[in-house]
Amino acid sequence: MTATAADIARAVAVLREGGLVAFPTETVYGLGADASNATAVRRMYAVKGRPAGHPVIVHVPSVDSLDAWATDVPEDARKLAKAFWPGPLTLILKRSARVVDAATAGLPTVGLRVPDHPIATALLEAFGGGIAAPSANRFGSVSPTTAAHVVADLGPAVDLVLDGGPCRVGVESTIVDLSGAEATLLRPGGVSREALEDVLGRPLHRHDGQAVRAPGMLASHYAPRARVVLTSPAELATTAAALLAEGERVGALATDDDVLPEGAERIVLPVTAEEAAARLYAALREADERGLTVLLATLPPEQGLGLAVADRLRRAAGPRT
Ligand code: TXA
Ligand code: MG
Repeated sequence: MTATAADIARAVAVLREGGLVAFPTETVYGLGADASNATAVRRMYAVKGRPAGHPVIVHVPSVDSLDAWATDVPEDARKLAKAFWPGPLTLILKRSARVVDAATAGLPTVGLRVPDHPIATALLEAFGGGIAAPSANRFGSVSPTTAAHVVADLGPAVDLVLDGGPCRVGVESTIVDLSGAEATLLRPGGVSREALEDVLGRPLHRHDGQAVRAPGMLASHYAPRARVVLTSPAELATTAAALLAEGERVGALATDDDVLPEGAERIVLPVTAEEAAARLYAALREADERGLTVLLATLPPEQGLGLAVADRLRRAAGPRT
């Protein structure tokens, strides 16, 4: 399973040559390219099928990298970085000259994150530069939380996949924009809003409106092939029965205790928000592996990691383009 020192050395060589390395983080697997090499970054976009207008996160080895990749870093950013890095938090800051245009879609800002995974840390330290990395899946589909998911999605287009086992957090990093006057939550994720607000000492602004700055903001992201339908715990069984009667192949993300009609398949999603987050993307993939046409889901309470789980389920259920 776990990548060795020799694998890390090979990965560094691949990155230096402008190649692509998929690597584990605590959130999801990333598809990494040398953040200073525009050609490598463009190749990463092509492999992912990602439109050039969507910026990617630059992963750096430690808090000390902040001033190399960002300018005018506000005190709040230093506070959050100190409190949560390494960890599932991405800070949007004014970019430094070191950041290539290809990674930021030409925006004057850059997303920075120090991941909390021993293999990511070893890779970043050995590489010595920034690694631009989106989640290592095809654009719009479900993010990978195992090395096998990466191989299934991207196959031989990736030069090297570092295996670090299943991701601990399971949903992407929380994104906070600190490049403007207000600290704004752009995407809920692995660090809870409550924890961020505790450190900041005030509420975060919420991203609203449709000024799409992050593809995570698009409806129909994180979607399996099965149609995802949101329902309530009270209506789960009757909704499942109605869809079965229409001839659908029905499954539900459910607890062991939820009652489902005969013929509906149960994909267990644990009750606690942390465990649900860790299982969520594998569960969405399982719906497709089982050949379901409809997947029912209920939203968890939107506290702690529940906010991120509910966000991803809403997007999975969103209109498809
Ligand atoms: O946990 C994560 O964040 C994972 C791991 C690999 O680090 N990465 C990830 O990357 O989720 P991706 O590309 O799937 O999502 C990154 C999000 C996108 O929604 C992108 O638009 C946003 O970050 N983003 C990146 N740079 C930005 C910027 N300068 N301004 C606003 N949003 C930005
Ligand atoms: Mg993604």
